[in-house]
Amino acid sequence: MAVLVLGGAGYIGSHMVKRLVADGQDVVVVDSLVTGHRQAVDEKAKFYQVDVRDKTALSQVFDQEDIDQVVHFAAFSIVPESVADPLKYFDNNTGGMITLLEVMRAHDVKQIVFSSTAATYGNPVHIPIQESDPQDPINPYGESKLMMEKMMAWADEAYGIKWVALRYFNVAGAIEDGSIGEDHNPETHLVPIILQAAAGQREFIEMFGDDYDTPDGFNVRDYVHVLDLADAHLSALKYLAAGEPSNQFNLGSATGFSVKEMVEAARKATGVNIKSKIGPRRPGDPDILVANSDKARQVLAWQPKYDNVEDIIKTAWHWTETHPHGFQY
Ligand SMILES: NC(=O)c1ccc[n+]([C@@H]2O[C@H](COP(=O)([O-])OP(=O)(O)OC[C@H]3O[C@@H](n4cnc5c(N)ncnc54)[C@H](O)[C@@H]3O)[C@@H](O)[C@H]2O)c1
Repeated sequence: MAVLVLGGAGYIGSHMVKRLVADGQDVVVVDSLVTGHRQAVDEKAKFYQVDVRDKTALSQVFDQEDIDQVVHFAAFSIVPESVADPLKYFDNNTGGMITLLEVMRAHDVKQIVFSSTAATYGNPVHIPIQESDPQDPINPYGESKLMMEKMMAWADEAYGIKWVALRYFNVAGAIEDGSIGEDHNPETHLVPIILQAAAGQREFIEMFGDDYDTPDGFNVRDYVHVLDLADAHLSALKYLAAGEPSNQFNLGSATGFSVKEMVEAARKATGVNIKSKIGPRRPGDPDILVANSDKARQVLAWQPKYDNVEDIIKTAWHWTETHPHGFQY
């Protein structure tokens, strides 16, 4: 019996692969390497360079391996790019899910844990956001992921494929030993960008807008450590293996931090006086995005270990310091 990790060469997927290996599971990775890194994949996992949309190649992997559960991270996830080129997102993300569910169905594989996102909610109607809140995406990325959730729901109705959607907020940090970490090109996530400024790879960090309706005027987001996220996926796989019904969970820390607080925390964690500047607001950036993750804590018994952003940043800093050019060196 093996777990298939689609997108296991990516930032979150590679941490998940290590978590599964540490749990003693057989792991098969499928990744096209379009944004991922072969070096990020734990050597105990079996690796196939395959695009999820390639039905023939994906079917061969299912023919060769004894897969009983799937974790699906393989997607594009840059919001502005999705606005400029929506079909790229519907093709890779949504289209990829059609192929995956077809192949799972043909091989009688009935359990999938899926990387969903806060972007499926669009502008929140409550803070903190709950799973039952309306999902009304405001960009093609969020829409592509919502469509993937809906496809799984219909595939459950028709074919009995059980699914768990984990809706992440902002993911940060790296494995403690610094062997793998975040290496996106271009990098669009706040923590690695702040740390690039700490490492002297950019002159300063630009904080977009200081007139939001928040205590310090900077927008507030919810950060969760990538290892805590991996734990939640493992719990979700066990939940499905126990025969539980399809479900959806927010994964956040329940505590929001403003961009300014994050820069402050990074100054403390790194000991570097990171320069910052205030820039104009970015269109479509809500004031506050914070998750209510009580359901994951109750139903999946999820217990995040990193509830302090400074500790999250320290692990990312260890990766940045030891790998200033990511996986290139
Ligand atoms: N990083 C975050 O803060 C965050 C927040 C919310 C949701 N997510 C979701 O988590 C998932 C993983 O994010 P990440 O930051 O690790 O991204 P990533 O780009 O590092 O990883 C994605 C991986 O999927 C692979 N991939 C993409 N399309 C593929 C295809 N068609 N076939 C095979 N492989 C393919 C890439 O090569 C890469 O290795 C994404 O689905 C994203 O939507 C991430």
